[in-house]
Amino acid sequence: MKVSDLAQLLLDIGETKIRLYDWQRRWLDDKSRFRVMLKSRAVGGSFTIALESIVWSLLNPLYTTILLSYSLRQSMELFRKIREQLSILKDKRLKLGEQTCSLNIVNSESRTEITLKNGSRIICLPNNPDTIRGYRADQIYIDEAAMFRNDLEIKAAVIPIIAGKSGRLSLISTPKGRRGWFYEAWVSSIYSKHKIHYRDSPHITNEDLEGLRNTLSHIAWMQEMEMEFLEELNCLFPVEMILSCLEDYQYTEFTEIKTSNPLYAGIDLGRYRDSTIIIVLEKAGEDYLKIVFVKEFVDVDMVYQREYIAKLIDTLSPVRVLIDKTGIGIPIYDFLVEKHVNVEGLTITQNLKEAIILNLYNYIRSRRIKIPIDCEELIRQLQQFKKIQDKTGRTRYEAPPGWHDDYVIALALAVYAASNPPQQARIKEIWRW
Ligand SMILES: Nc1ncnc2c1ncn2[C@@H]1O[C@H](COP(=O)(O)OP(=O)(O)OP(=O)(O)O)[C@@H](O)[C@H]1O
Ligand SMILES: [Mg+2]
Repeated sequence: MKVSDLAQLLLDIGETKIRLYDWQRRWLDDKSRFRVMLKSRAVGGSFTIALESIVWSLLNPLYTTILLSYSLRQSMELFRKIREQLSILKDKRLKLGEQTCSLNIVNSESRTEITLKNGSRIICLPNNPDTIRGYRADQIYIDEAAMFRNDLEIKAAVIPIIAGKSGRLSLISTPKGRRGWFYEAWVSSIYSKHKIHYRDSPHITNEDLEGLRNTLSHIAWMQEMEMEFLEELNCLFPVEMILSCLEDYQYTEFTEIKTSNPLYAGIDLGRYRDSTIIIVLEKAGEDYLKIVFVKEFVDVDMVYQREYIAKLIDTLSPVRVLIDKTGIGIPIYDFLVEKHVNVEGLTITQNLKEAIILNLYNYIRSRRIKIPIDCEELIRQLQQFKKIQDKTGRTRYEAPPGWHDDYVIALALAVYAASNPPQQARIKEIWRW
């Protein structure tokens, strides 16, 4: 029986109504030792490797599978997919010829690992080369492989784990630039290659695609849906540089932030798509910054926004809050500046934009800023942010035509707040007598 037939049988027994697509069958039946899956977003990549890891564990007693994700949150999500697929099999029976066997196959379960009754183990781990080194495995999956900030270190940790057991290795990802392990694998001749376009997965509806087209820039669409390994032409922040600043941590609500270190905020008030971005940084060491809070308001009324920002400032008492007061920002800025001495407004001219962006660039290039790895929109905007020389020789720093750089500006303002003394001391009250 083919792996794909058994996988389909399990889905049928679990009454899922899911029919495996042709590409999923091809992937499941590909016995190559090294495989790479280049995929559009949301096609079902994680679902497929979750299912495959169950089938192989079932077929091979004492089999060890490791699924690696680039962040803790992603790893928990993948683990949830595996548990979900196992739970639909609970109390069901599998009939193969004359034999029937129970599908109550789980023996024990921890936060990251499931052991089956035949001794096989399925383990989900986040990106940590030191933890990974402790394992031996028959099969390793690297989910969203292009998003690993330290992919070459992971590669060095992973290869010995499968070497002894002649284990299998699969890299699955949407592309992120012509760089790193995933790109190398895709262009190498060692790996068996699978390219999965969103049209190969008809559960993605035209409506879903319409929504994505409205939220992704042309560049992001080409990368994430058309699977292009983009050249980094004119990009100010190469992917490698961005990845080197990513860390696997979550930020909390601002009310939960507890630190005695100085805080700095940058606020880009909604001009594009009516959204406002707030980013708060902690100065964690000498000239070393960490993003501790990110908020986006989309279509939220101005009164609510200004009350929210006022409460944030009262609660966190940042040393400085820099607000882009160009255009629509002015009424909110006027309200905030009235009550808070630490608020300063900037009108972002081309020259000032260049100064704050180059300041941000210096921090990113020297890895003096920590960015949470799940902050997808900020990472996307940084990746597509351009340095463009126009015909007159002037350099402009901006998002591609028609697209957003509001996360980048909010971050640049916060970094600027943390790295430059105030332009001029503001006198709140004039002494009266
Ligand atoms: N053959 C199928 N028929 C219908 N739905 C499917 C099929 N295969 C997978 N799916 C569904 O596709 C959805 C997306 O799956 P999954 O999260 O695994 O995709 P992904 O490619 O990993 O996405 P992302 O790019 O966000 O990581 C899930 O809801 C899953 O149930
Ligand atoms: Mg996935």
